[in-house]
Amino acid sequence: MKLGVVGTGYVGLVTAAGFAARGHHVTCVDIDAAKVASLENGIVPWYEPGLSEIVIAATAIGKLHFTTDIKLAAEGADILFIAVGTPPNEDGSADTSAVFGAAGDIGDAVTSPVSVVIRSTVPVGTAHSVRSLIAERAGFTCPVLSNPEFLREGKAVPDFENPTRVVIGSDHAGEEQALHALYAEHTPAELIVTVDTHSAEMSKYASNSFLAAKISFMNEIATLCEAVGADIEHVRKVMGFDPRIGSAHLAPGIGYGGSCLPKDTQAVVHMGRSSSLDMGLLEQVHRVNVEQPARIVERLRTALGGSLAGKRIALWGLSFKPDTDDMREAPSLVLISHLAREGASICAYDPMAVTHARALLDGQLEYAEDKYQCVQDAHALVIVTEWNEFKNPDWKTVRDLLATPIVFDGRNIHDPNEMAEHGIEYYSIGRQPAGTPDNDRAQDVQNSSEEQKNLLQEETLEPASRS
Ligand code: UDX
Repeated sequence: MKLGVVGTGYVGLVTAAGFAARGHHVTCVDIDAAKVASLENGIVPWYEPGLSEIVIAATAIGKLHFTTDIKLAAEGADILFIAVGTPPNEDGSADTSAVFGAAGDIGDAVTSPVSVVIRSTVPVGTAHSVRSLIAERAGFTCPVLSNPEFLREGKAVPDFENPTRVVIGSDHAGEEQALHALYAEHTPAELIVTVDTHSAEMSKYASNSFLAAKISFMNEIATLCEAVGADIEHVRKVMGFDPRIGSAHLAPGIGYGGSCLPKDTQAVVHMGRSSSLDMGLLEQVHRVNVEQPARIVERLRTALGGSLAGKRIALWGLSFKPDTDDMREAPSLVLISHLAREGASICAYDPMAVTHARALLDGQLEYAEDKYQCVQDAHALVIVTEWNEFKNPDWKTVRDLLATPIVFDGRNIHDPNEMAEHGIEYYSIGRQPAGTPDNDRAQDVQNSSEEQKNLLQEETLEPASRS
């Protein structure tokens, strides 16, 4: 098929390159000429494992093209995707100006009806409004469908290739045929779900805000565990055996970030408020998340004698999660603003995100070349993002470089007992300090749950893997 994709961001480019790699002729449109030029040269302006390879390969065989001229993409297209960003407005609502801008441009460019597919995450009802706008501008009606994406940054390419589901929103019988055929080439029919556009649009928001709720739920339980002497990692393991709960997205930590979970959760709250509904549950999900970095600062202040003024804090990790250089809504940004406000000096190291961090945090902190240089003379180290290289450092070197051997593990990637053996004063989320009787008992629980897991595997129930 001949496809057009408006928007060459995380979603648009993965979608375009993915379909081009399957042999379709795809033309990407972006208003940013510099971005179009770099993409034509196979340069993807952000890190996404495997993406630049498929962009280069598909471009080389003439299947993937980039332009600023929407008419080139619209000409003879079977399907036109709208995959532009919908960032949050101040009030938490989704800014859909780029979506309606693309729709208007499509309306002006098309000369005959073409399927228009909204891949961006948009408030419920957007497909309806886009349909009217295009009809007004084109002088004829185009089918407008919803096709929300469920791609995770860092895994976007495999998530496109092996989707857990393909959602098609269509309000007029038969209009989904072209889009359904496009996906059916590679996606088992049972994974393609066709619903009305309102439900398709809502399903994306409901999925993301539920994932956010799982994370904030665990972070709230983790805070309770700290107070009552339980270990959240053992609680999480026990919960994960229940397939109704699952173990994914149950990891406690410094909080969730990224371009989706924060904005989508707040967009749902805004949609509810606009319908005069109380969205207390999701408001609390957001509140717990916003307060999580502040809780770490509070505990850090106590560990450092009651004040952070003049203290040097090392941060391992700036990106909102590993395997991406994306800093959007990263918890590190909230942590840094709290630390700076309390007079601490900060030195950070991240394998990939420093370029974006410099643009966002001009002059607020120092950047180290590696994780060891980062901890030199620091009064404490905070592990913010669980990059692999932070999982097995040389703790003797770290301890010798730190001014005081204090480590806050914001992602619970280390074991309290092992850290105590390294002579580190170790703090983490929802767990007891090493050496407390509870913690020793927790070790017994850890061992017994390993035995239990093996037993369960022998039976049939496949225990949820630790994600
Ligand atoms: C998310 C959804 O997972 C994806 O389906 C949707 O299409 C886009 O939004 P993404 O934002 O890339 O994907 O990241 P995700 O892997 O969900 O992590 C989001 C944030 O939650 C990260 O900051 C991560 O550190 C945090 N997180 C994730 C936790 O704190 N605990 C967990 O158990 C999982």
